[in-house]
Amino acid sequence: MGYIIKTDDSARLRLGIQSRLYEQSSVDLISRAGTLRGRKILEVGCGSGAMTLNLARAVGHQGTVTAIDNSPAQLDASRELVRENGFKNVRFFEGDVNCLDHLDNSYDLVYCRMVLHHVADADHAIREMVNALRPDGHLLCEEPVIHDGSFSFPPSEAIDEFIRILRSCFIVNGRDYNIAFRMESVIRNLGLTIEHYRLYHPLLNSAKDRLLYAMSLSDLAPQMIKNGIIDPSSASELHEKLVHVANSETTMTWARMHSVLARNCSKA
Ligand SMILES: C[S@@+](CC[C@H](N)C(=O)[O-])C[C@H]1O[C@@H](n2cnc3c(N)ncnc32)[C@H](O)[C@@H]1O
Repeated sequence: MGYIIKTDDSARLRLGIQSRLYEQSSVDLISRAGTLRGRKILEVGCGSGAMTLNLARAVGHQGTVTAIDNSPAQLDASRELVRENGFKNVRFFEGDVNCLDHLDNSYDLVYCRMVLHHVADADHAIREMVNALRPDGHLLCEEPVIHDGSFSFPPSEAIDEFIRILRSCFIVNGRDYNIAFRMESVIRNLGLTIEHYRLYHPLLNSAKDRLLYAMSLSDLAPQMIKNGIIDPSSASELHEKLVHVANSETTMTWARMHSVLARNCSKA
């Protein structure tokens, strides 16, 4: 099952904005998984490596991070970022979150952000990640919301329309787009103890950050057009409106992320 969003330089720029918005909260949640120095972390769907750096820093030079993604282009970007920052404790593998049974159950933390809404069966992917945990290890999953709800004040018809077609695109392509809302119960039903649940709404504080929705539309438009969800001229019209919202100093806009930190209480 292919990735429906572009993974070129402009997509990495968008991912960079998202990473900056969520970083403070993600780093805080990682620190709640106990002392990670010298430990083993598995990061699934590492993308261009923003969180890989934070994980490499958390384990220090005696620990290891295994970073997996199913996109060779994303892995190359992540590998380069880690190299530029001088970390030697990260191993990269091309792999699929749906199939982690080649890994032993030895990881102290399995981390996954903004990946599960891209797969067809997120429950299965979560089970795979749980199987890679050592007894007492932690699972941290973070997923954005792709659902009706407010994303700006005053409400923006352009943002509402974008969220509506975004959801259609995930549905048409058979993705488990609303996993953010089920994640906690799926993880609990697998026998893990939920230690922390967070709903995080970072504000898009500058015009550059507020461009996130317009940039996301650009990255998804080819797939949306292919799926007949929008035609090219409506896509460029909507893009223009989203840029207009981004440049409006009087519109407050935000993003939204659900995060669940859980502990594997099973005995060795
Ligand atoms: C939105 S990006 C998130 C990247 C990174 N986790 C972050 O938070 O910055 C989603 C990533 O998941 C990867 N991905 C999508 N489906 C996957 C799968 N089935 N197995 C492994 N990686 C996958 C994509 O290639 C992409 O790099």
